[in-house]
Amino acid sequence: MLATAPEPDDEREEVNLRPRRLDEFVGQDGLREHLEIVLEAARRRREPVDHLLLCGPPGLGKTTLAAIVAAEMGAGFRVTSGPALERAGDLAALLTNLDDGDVLFIDEIHRLPRIVEEVLYPAMEDFALDIVIGKGPSARSIRLDLPTFTLIGATTRTGLIAGPLRDRFGFVARLDYYAVDELDAIVTRAARILDVDCHPAGAHEIARRSRGTPRIANRLLRRVRDYAEVRADGVVTETAAHDGLSLFGVDEVGLDKVDRAILDAVCRLFGGGPVGLSTVAISVGEQPDTVEDVYEPFLMQLGFLQRTPRGRVATPAAWAHLGLPAPPPATPPTANLFD
Ligand SMILES: Nc1ncnc2c1ncn2[C@@H]1O[C@H](COP(=O)(O)OP(=O)(O)OP(=O)(O)O)[C@@H](O)[C@H]1O
Ligand SMILES: [Mg+2]
Repeated sequence: MLATAPEPDDEREEVNLRPRRLDEFVGQDGLREHLEIVLEAARRRREPVDHLLLCGPPGLGKTTLAAIVAAEMGAGFRVTSGPALERAGDLAALLTNLDDGDVLFIDEIHRLPRIVEEVLYPAMEDFALDIVIGKGPSARSIRLDLPTFTLIGATTRTGLIAGPLRDRFGFVARLDYYAVDELDAIVTRAARILDVDCHPAGAHEIARRSRGTPRIANRLLRRVRDYAEVRADGVVTETAAHDGLSLFGVDEVGLDKVDRAILDAVCRLFGGGPVGLSTVAISVGEQPDTVEDVYEPFLMQLGFLQRTPRGRVATPAAWAHLGLPAPPPATPPTANLFD
């Protein structure tokens, strides 16, 4: 699957490709400008940056941006994730071990258990930890001061963040899919770092078919590099990119096998919908969460799929992309019983 499950080699190379400073970070112009100001203001006041929530589909740069905030502030960077923090004590231990000014990154923050989330509230607001000592009538609560820190949360699901948690972030930023020229710059930069001979037209072809996602752009570059080494003379030309990507099942607009299977299921099996999310997921052998977080946002962005209250609906563009004739629009009933 293209969007997740990287190969070990890829993972190692991915680390080298990750931009370290804000000025190496391509795209998301509005967000970058906002961050520049927030960082500069915090540096001048010699205070940690306000807590920040980053939302958006996988692979758009949430973890990268969190690490950049820490680097730009000259602060320590501590990483954990919602599912890793099972008990309140897990988070308490982490918080008491922070140094002043540290950036604490909680990935998949929407999967934080409720009891752990409650520890986070006073920590975010007052840099304090409330601990209950003893049990029953003699129990008492003491307040422990914490170092000042910046919490950066990342989520693919804004809708699943509870209001009280979301309200405690100084700002909430949404990452959008990248434009082709931005991905072009990302592929070109990655080719330079990986020492791949890549023609501008080759980079453009990869950028065009990367689902608007830097992680996928980097991965496709590596796959095309493999292809070019074996089938061409190691140079990523437009032809090598085109032929390599087709061979690896990435189509003209960047859809992979699962994307196409989803469209195919909605159109062929369910007549274009509306069809429920779980039914679609079962038809393509994926988890509903994965279909909703990873695949659907891009299919909707391309205008191939719509979410309606009654389920998912394929648009005429989706039928055309599959090379199928669109069904005639449902005609409203003309005869009225009581006429
Ligand atoms: N703006 C960017 N400029 C250049 N490269 C980028 C940019 N954003 C992301 N990347 C590249 O894409 C890779 C994936 O980004 P990152 O891991 O930050 O995504 P993510 O949003 O945290 O994804 P997930 O939700 O899966 O955790 C990075 O390793 C980096 O190489
Ligand atoms: Mg991440």
